[in-house]
Amino acid sequence: MIGDARGDVPVTITGLGAYAPERVITNDELAQMVETSDEWIVERTGIRERRIAADSQALSDLSLPAAQQALEQAGIDGEDVDLLIVATVTPDMMFPSTSAILADQLGAKDAAAYDLSAGCTGFMYAIAQAYGMVVAGLSRRALVVGGDVLSRILDWTDRSTVVLFGDGAGAVVLEPAGEAGFLAFELGADGAGGEHLWLPGSGSRTFEDPEQFVKMNGREVFKFATRVLVSSAEAVLERYGGSVDDVDVYVPHQANVRIIDHATKKLGIPSERVVINVDRYGNTSSGSIPLALAEAQSDGRLRRGSLVLMTGMGAGLTWGSALMRWTAEASA
Ligand code: UT7
Repeated sequence: MIGDARGDVPVTITGLGAYAPERVITNDELAQMVETSDEWIVERTGIRERRIAADSQALSDLSLPAAQQALEQAGIDGEDVDLLIVATVTPDMMFPSTSAILADQLGAKDAAAYDLSAGCTGFMYAIAQAYGMVVAGLSRRALVVGGDVLSRILDWTDRSTVVLFGDGAGAVVLEPAGEAGFLAFELGADGAGGEHLWLPGSGSRTFEDPEQFVKMNGREVFKFATRVLVSSAEAVLERYGGSVDDVDVYVPHQANVRIIDHATKKLGIPSERVVINVDRYGNTSSGSIPLALAEAQSDGRLRRGSLVLMTGMGAGLTWGSALMRWTAEASA
């Protein structure tokens, strides 16, 4: 699915927030739990540490501070929100949705609220969907949260997955605006590759092995990731009629520094324009892109007028890109 953002109904991001739990787990700590080492993890992934939710924290607890920050930056209250989408694969529970729980906490009384599942690409799908709702006039103020507590669904004895992931959430407010923020989107999925990254036993299909842990074929996901990060970015840029040289801030899904480096080189984006925080947070799934975006805003890299390219990829297998002009003033 690919499309230009319609210029006659400009929509932009007016608020951005992020939250990661306080507890830091270093590679050395992981090396005490599974057979691994700081050296292996850094060399193969670039990850040095990750944040892990406290036992008492569920996704809504991570999402709430991120959402409050985004609302504050947008200068609106919870009751102003009429659409709330939470992109996640680790909701508080299957139902009620985390978005309904969050809407209640924020006082977004009459907002439509639902969760969206598209693996680590969830945030990209959710902003595209919220964008469409705002353009169609169904929503005036949409709050989109991307977040996951993947630590809950990891097998903490499996070194091939446990070293990669972390917990975190980010949020954005989308509103109609005087000038266009969103310029183009490209989204896709390849269900044939679904079994390379999956959570068997988490739904209505019966499995012989009912363990509900993330299972991953790392090499296949790596190949997929390096391919789609490039193809999706190129597709969205071509659709907009822009070149990679125009991109000021590149925010790729934070899965592995090697994947990011590969995409960056192939696309020809200078490294100083690439936002990387996977070293400190690991792969936070749906939280990855908004966490990185918020970091780029707080360190001043995301400025009014910046052309921002975001590309996610993950379970499904799914991918998605958005191209936007940052219209908010630099602040945080
Ligand atoms: O949002 C999407 C989520 N997933 C991803 O993005 C994952 C994409 N894939 C990757 O990032 C990489 O494939 C990994 C980081 C998962 C693995 O890196 P790799 O360079 O592809 O390593 P590998 O799977 O080829 O494994 C190399 C060796 C193996 O040992 P042998 O068979 O060569 O003896 C593994 O058993 O490394 C071993 N290994 C480890 N060793 C120490 C696997 N995990 C670990 C570990 N510590 N944590």
